[in-house]
Amino acid sequence: EKGGYDHFMLKEIYEQPKSIRDTLRGRLLPEQGLIKMGGVFEYREKIVNAERIIIIGCGTSWHAGLVAEYLFEDLARIPVEVEYASEFRYRNPVITEKDVVIAISQSGETADTLAAIKLAKEKGATIFGICNVVGSSIARETHAGAYTHAGPEIGVASTKAFTAQVAVLALMALRIAHDRGVLKQSYYHQLLTELDSIPEKIEKMLESDAQARHISELYKDAQNFLYLGRGFNFPVALEGALKLKEISYIHAEGYPAAEMKHGPIALIDENMPVVVIAPKSGQYEKIVSNIQEVKARNGKVIAVVSNGDSEIARMADHVIEIEETAEVFSPLLTTIPLQLLSYHIAVMRGCNVDQPRNLAKSVTVE
Ligand code: F6R
Repeated sequence: EKGGYDHFMLKEIYEQPKSIRDTLRGRLLPEQGLIKMGGVFEYREKIVNAERIIIIGCGTSWHAGLVAEYLFEDLARIPVEVEYASEFRYRNPVITEKDVVIAISQSGETADTLAAIKLAKEKGATIFGICNVVGSSIARETHAGAYTHAGPEIGVASTKAFTAQVAVLALMALRIAHDRGVLKQSYYHQLLTELDSIPEKIEKMLESDAQARHISELYKDAQNFLYLGRGFNFPVALEGALKLKEISYIHAEGYPAAEMKHGPIALIDENMPVVVIAPKSGQYEKIVSNIQEVKARNGKVIAVVSNGDSEIARMADHVIEIEETAEVFSPLLTTIPLQLLSYHIAVMRGCNVDQPRNLAKSVTVE
């Protein structure tokens, strides 16, 4: 059932070209310039005219929500707040009938997310769900929604569910942006074609994990890791750090790269591996200077860069290349090497990657 892979997690990492393709199938129609999302668009008016969107989730699903914040604000120009379901529900949040809430959950059973949905519903908000498990409690509790078609995720660490969530959120952001008339037509069409090519690009990136293995070998005994990213790749830094800590039990923190100088820079010495997510983007030069700051303190830089990047390659200790894509979709690609890195490190440390200690696949307690 592991399809020849040593672990479910590895199988699920390698399934991502397929799971994203399945998630986009029938919804993304680049030739016709269309995005079809039946389940969501029963409540289309609500979301297209929303004055703000509140996104709730836990763990990795919360990280997908953070990516969506960048997507919805940048493409659709709707203000977004992303909340941990547990904090949202207990702080007497201000919610009205005008609000649109998007709840994200792989399992569809997370207790805090479910309770947050019920609360928002009582206050009259319209709730969209993005779940992977068909017929799950959250899928039933929401007004409308879209399933991620990632297939069953067995590994406790979420991998293919995360990228499928981001794919669905990208579809929603593009469709809403289009309906609101806030995207240039040519850019919209360009993005549809680009999103369609993501599975193929992931396939190419998965042809070899030699670099991720090599880096894992070198740093598997590290006690701490720092992950840095900016913009669309700030949430990827958080996700990379979460993946490492949950399966390898190495302490890891993710930060927006610009926050480094406000504290975490004190941690950097020759024993600190710093994973910097630095594909070509609007903030490229900024992240180059963040890398210089790490190198000036003898930190070890593992950089995730766009194909053929030579500037960062000269500064970093190691680079992992990703395929070229639009900045807005880059999280779908930059996530992949970070999943592989945490997987290999955990295996090399002898950890049970599919069932890490103290964790359960769905958290049905509060
Ligand atoms: C991380 C992980 C957890 C879940 C979180 C939410 O790899 O698996 O952080 O993402 O428990 O679970 P769902 O998405 O099922 O609500």
